Amino acid sequence: MPFISIYSPKGGVGKTTLAANLGYSLSSLGLKTVVVDFDPQNALRLHFGISLADQSGFAASAPESAIWSKQLVPTRNNVFVLPYGAPNLKQRLAFESHLAREPLSVVRGFQALLSQPDVIVIADLPAGQPTILQAALSVSDVVLTPLLADTASLSLLPMVETLFDDIAAHERQPESFVVLNQADYRRKISKDVEGFMTQRLNDRLLGIIHRDESVAEANAAQHSIMETNHASVAGFDIEVISKKLAEKLGLVTTDGSMFSPPASHLA
Ligand SMILES: Nc1ncnc2c1ncn2[C@@H]1O[C@H](COP(=O)(O)OP(=O)(O)O)[C@@H](O)[C@H]1O
Ligand SMILES: [Mg+2]
Repeated sequence: MPFISIYSPKGGVGKTTLAANLGYSLSSLGLKTVVVDFDPQNALRLHFGISLADQSGFAASAPESAIWSKQLVPTRNNVFVLPYGAPNLKQRLAFESHLAREPLSVVRGFQALLSQPDVIVIADLPAGQPTILQAALSVSDVVLTPLLADTASLSLLPMVETLFDDIAAHERQPESFVVLNQADYRRKISKDVEGFMTQRLNDRLLGIIHRDESVAEANAAQHSIMETNHASVAGFDIEVISKKLAEKLGLVTTDGSMFSPPASHLA
């Protein structure tokens, strides 16, 4: 079971948008996709038609005994969602301190899923929360860090490079990449940031997503960007990224045909 974590030191950079739409896009390649929300904002579910009033989720369960995969919500297109839920303060503190004490409890929470070879998991992690990142690293194969094509994100680059060194030092050794979001060729600053990041990050820049009105429309419609607007540039960009990921994870051969995912070494 390949596991992709989406993490950034900064909020508002497109983590949830990327997690949701990679979920849709990888499922359109024929994969069963599970998107997991580790962010207390509990917003991932809103990309999949789950009602705002539905507050169920895994973070309120007693962390020692929880079998999270039992709480998966089937949505359209072979995508399953595991919402964070709405724990009260006490439950949230219990969940977070449990993850800090026992990062491998993420593995146990996903035990039933880990044994299934035809599933890909995408985890939306909250910005700047090392405890949850550390726990997710114990299962991650790839970490994606969205940044914006602006000067604020540029100033975070040294921090992101340190983060990548830390991730590489983890015993599981996940690969890590930046995804540059909201690129806009009409703005000089966006072009300059893109040029700089391309040069500095090289192969570590997995892809670029353009700023696109369809993103907000898809969010409002609680659907994928591509299904909201087939001509969406951002939707196309995310499809390109999902194909690169599938290839890196050994899910698709270069000629586009599928073969079985490698068994996770945690299974
Ligand atoms: N490529 C894009 N083009 C236009 N708007 C975008 C794009 N990516 C994200 N957004 C918008 O930016 C805001 C923040 O995105 P979100 O995915 O919630 O970020 P995060 O999860 O990192 O906080 C949302 O309103 C989203 O619709
Ligand atoms: Mg988010």
